[in-house]
Amino acid sequence: QGLAQAWTSKGRQYIGTALTIRDDPIEQGIIQARNEFNSITPENAMKWESTEPSRDNFTFAGADAIIDFADKYKKEVRCHTLVWHSQLPAWVSEGNFDNKTLISIMENHIKKLAGRYKNKCTHWDVVNEALEEDGTYRKSVFYNTIGEAFIPITFRLASKYAGSHTKLYYNDYNLEYNNNKTLGALRILKLVQSYGVQIDGVGLQAHLTSEATASSGGGVTPDTNTLTKVLKGFTDLGVEVAYTELDVRFTVPVTEAKLKVQADAYARVVQSCINIKKCVGITIWGVSDKYSWIPGVFKTEGAALLWDEQFNKKPAYYSVLKTI
Ligand code: XIL
Repeated sequence: QGLAQAWTSKGRQYIGTALTIRDDPIEQGIIQARNEFNSITPENAMKWESTEPSRDNFTFAGADAIIDFADKYKKEVRCHTLVWHSQLPAWVSEGNFDNKTLISIMENHIKKLAGRYKNKCTHWDVVNEALEEDGTYRKSVFYNTIGEAFIPITFRLASKYAGSHTKLYYNDYNLEYNNNKTLGALRILKLVQSYGVQIDGVGLQAHLTSEATASSGGGVTPDTNTLTKVLKGFTDLGVEVAYTELDVRFTVPVTEAKLKVQADAYARVVQSCINIKKCVGITIWGVSDKYSWIPGVFKTEGAALLWDEQFNKKPAYYSVLKTI
């Protein structure tokens, strides 16, 4: 019995992983199998820099390969992501376009990308990371050129092209602490709803820590009660929720004690999702610590996933399985 088997046998939708297609039969085999993961999110292949590196010049080979993989191994796909300030090619930058032109560029991007995979995506992360840590809007090219209306505009465009079977999400990190950033996401959800535009869910990335680390600003994975409250705040507004990029990092080197603390943190996240009926799934941001993005970005941290670098299941794997 694996993670996805256990989860779906409880009547829930999916346990997913980030997918980068690479030459590693052990890692790819774990993803391909039916037991652990029944959903994948392209780790990078659908991002703007990968799909439209220069204006109206689309490159879909990487994204197509992800969709082919999903078809072949019968996975759902959480498509990621349409409008985001990061991994955005330099040609989409401030001062280059007025608002009308930028909106037409967004429409073309969404039409070609979301249209290509119409109804293939169970979900789209439509707008990613539009908030600062204090809950105000991030000063991205989209916000600075269009204003907050860029968010409902993007959702309207996504609903025009993504297909009626696809759930449209707002997605962000550090929404898990029930703080000002959480309130910012609630504000965004209400904003889109006030325009009468489709928004189906809020994705909590959940890039978490199991101890206060150099990068965590003192925060650690909240208790189950706080996490459950955060999820409920969103579902009370009529949408579903999901954990979309879960990992729980700590300062390396790994010790047995740290692995135990990490396992408990993972269990809190999983339990909160179980507590909320409309928490449809959990995507873990990779399989093995060997390929996790964490050490590349948070230099002294790592070991954030469920399998270690040798593909042994870690205590966190067993605590997730047991909690489900
Ligand atoms: C990360 C990928 O894992 C890395 O491979 C890449 O170099 C940078 O992006 N929030 C997101 C994800 O929405 O797309 C990011 O993924 C992690 C943070």
